[in-house]
Amino acid sequence: MTELPFAPSAERNKLPILLALQDLLPSAGQVLEIGSGTGQHVIFFAAAMPQLHWQPSEQQMHLPGLQARLQLQAGSNVLPAIELDVTQATQWPPALSHDAVYAANVAHIMSWPQVQAMFAGVECCLHTAGRFCLYGPFHRQGQPTSAGNAEFDAQLRSADNPQGSHQGIRDDSAMIELAHRHGMQLLDDIAMPANNRILVFTKSI
Ligand SMILES: C[S@@+](CC[C@H](N)C(=O)[O-])C[C@H]1O[C@@H](n2cnc3c(N)ncnc32)[C@H](O)[C@@H]1O
Repeated sequence: MTELPFAPSAERNKLPILLALQDLLPSAGQVLEIGSGTGQHVIFFAAAMPQLHWQPSEQQMHLPGLQARLQLQAGSNVLPAIELDVTQATQWPPALSHDAVYAANVAHIMSWPQVQAMFAGVECCLHTAGRFCLYGPFHRQGQPTSAGNAEFDAQLRSADNPQGSHQGIRDDSAMIELAHRHGMQLLDDIAMPANNRILVFTKSI
């Protein structure tokens, strides 16, 4: 049997993220996850929040690994994974189809145009007053929040990183401004272990 893809970081951060999401997500409804990766998060969250239906998604190249984990571990409240590259308008779920959107560790991996496309897609598929919970490292007003994040940002932007010209830790103010352009306001900014944060946006009425 092929080994399932596994991310040690997802194993470490899934409990603290769950504890935060339990206060942020609605008591019922459907949650879209962007960039589900190995599927460790969606499996864990769906088991702990059975009142929600979870829609995992990934880019085409990562779908087989994600699907393999879902096949073995997903409960009945996890929908089959969909292909979603945020830049592909036709791959987004229908307008107003989701009560919440969750994404972890995607904003520093995507290029800035991809981050912009993500907010445009979220604006469309999220219900009015729905929440977009975005976990990851973020700079605060242009400054890294820790030496570790400064080093990570330098690695992402380095010439040694094949994606280097596109990746990097995003500034919180840029995320908030982008959210405003897409009809969302910052509702909360939650400090998480290892200098990560959850930026919680809500779609304006
Ligand atoms: C560092 S991984 C995070 C995976 C998982 N969310 C986690 O926290 O373990 C970054 C994820 O961003 C996704 N991603 C990058 N560019 C994307 C795009 N254009 N559209 C959708 N997802 C994208 C990748 O496929 C990958 O799963």
